[in-house]
Amino acid sequence: MPTHKIAPSILAADFGNLERDISMINQSESDWLHIDIMDGIFVPNISYGQAITKRIGELCEKPLDVHLMIMQPERYVEQFRDAGAEIITVHYEACPHLHRNLQQIKATGAKAGVALNPHTNVELLEDVLEDINMVCLMSVNPGFGGQKFIYCTMNKIRKLRTMIDERNLNVDIEIDGGVGLQNAEVILKAGANVLVAGSSVFKSEDPIATVKRLKAIGSDNF
Ligand code: DX5
Ligand code: ZN
Repeated sequence: MPTHKIAPSILAADFGNLERDISMINQSESDWLHIDIMDGIFVPNISYGQAITKRIGELCEKPLDVHLMIMQPERYVEQFRDAGAEIITVHYEACPHLHRNLQQIKATGAKAGVALNPHTNVELLEDVLEDINMVCLMSVNPGFGGQKFIYCTMNKIRKLRTMIDERNLNVDIEIDGGVGLQNAEVILKAGANVLVAGSSVFKSEDPIATVKRLKAIGSDNF
């Protein structure tokens, strides 16, 4: 199994103790920090914006993986790049001009990701796959942390992995929502290589140990 990345989602942190929780991420084996931006329109919830992201970026030693759950994301791509985003992911469902949006993200120097809601077919990315650095498959309906993993995601992971490997592309497959120690291994075996983990890390008794265990899946230490 190739090495995989763990991206804890700051949405599940204690916002009264953000600095403490980010320092925990810095000490852990996390690869990235996942930041969920919600506008209250594309998704029912509102989270935080550029100012908070910038401050998180100043405190965090890991690359910021910014997930834009917003309409017309092109309005904010540069601002999130300036706030420290290394990966910027937009939603397929929010982008009638997805190809243009991907070029815009890459022009800032960030990596470009596309997220798909649970009902959106992976085959819709066939004509744009070469332009994408990462596909984020939503395994819950976006908008909230702490939801249950939707199992039809498993088929989507396998299909997408085949599409990527057939063309010999280097595209990350990130799984977002309801991921934890109970299902991480099957998700990775299906072909994903980036796991977003919100509640399963931040709400666990020992978040650093949980990241370590998620990271060790597939190796002899598991
Ligand atoms: C959901 C967000 C997720 C969320 C995951 O809209 O995109 O990144 O933080 O949270 P958990 O891991 O708790 O399902
Ligand atoms: Zn997310």
